[in-house]
Amino acid sequence: MGMMDQDILKVLYTEKQIAARIEAMGMEMYDALKDKDPLFVSVLRGAFVFMADIVRACQVRCDVEFIAVSSYGNATSSSGAVKITHDIQQDITGRNIVVIEDILDSGNTLHFLKQYFMTKGAASVSICTLLDKPSRRTKAITADYIGFTVPDEFVVGYGLDYCQKYRNLPYIGVLKPEVYGGGEE
Ligand code: XMP
Ligand code: MG
Repeated sequence: MGMMDQDILKVLYTEKQIAARIEAMGMEMYDALKDKDPLFVSVLRGAFVFMADIVRACQVRCDVEFIAVSSYGNATSSSGAVKITHDIQQDITGRNIVVIEDILDSGNTLHFLKQYFMTKGAASVSICTLLDKPSRRTKAITADYIGFTVPDEFVVGYGLDYCQKYRNLPYIGVLKPEVYGGGEE
C-alpha cells in the first residue's frame, strides 16, 4: 500500500490488466504500422506513462516526439480552447503520425491536434488512446486504437492526474469524491 491508495474509491484497471491490454494493442498496431515508418507523438503530460509502454509493445521502426497543450489547469472539465505550449521538434511532411493520448474525453484536444498535424503536411494522423470516454464527446472524433472504454467518472493513475498528483499510481482508479471537494460540481 502506497500513501495515495487511501484516496482511491475503486480500481478500474489493475496494473496487470493494463499491461495485457497494451500488449494486444501493440500487436494490432504493429500490423497496421509496420510499413509506415510512423512518428509517435505523445501528448504531455498525461500520456507519458502510456507512451513508454505502447512504443515497446509495438516493435516497429519509428521515432517519438512529445507535444504539450494547455488544457484546463486543475479543474475536472474541459474548456474549448487548446493552445500548444511545447511543439514537436521536426518537419512532419509526409509522415504517418500516431498521436498517443491518455484519455479521449470531449474530443477538443485531439480534434485540434489532428487538424494541426494535417495542416503541417502529415500524410496521415491516427489516434491511439488508452481510455475513451464517449459519453462526454462534443467533437466528432473517434480513436483508431482504444485501450478501454470508460464510464463518465474522473479517473487518475497511470499518467492521469488530479491537480498534477496521482500520475505515478501503477493502476487506474476513481478518486473518492471528498478528495476533489465533495463531488458537488
Ligand atoms: P478532451 O476533453 O480535450 O480532454 O478530450 C482530453 C484531456 O482531458 C484530460 N482528462 C482527464 N484527466 N482524468 C484525468 O486525469 C479524467 O477522467 C480526464 N478526463 C479528461 C486529460 O488530460 C486529457 O488529455
Ligand atoms: Mg490531465
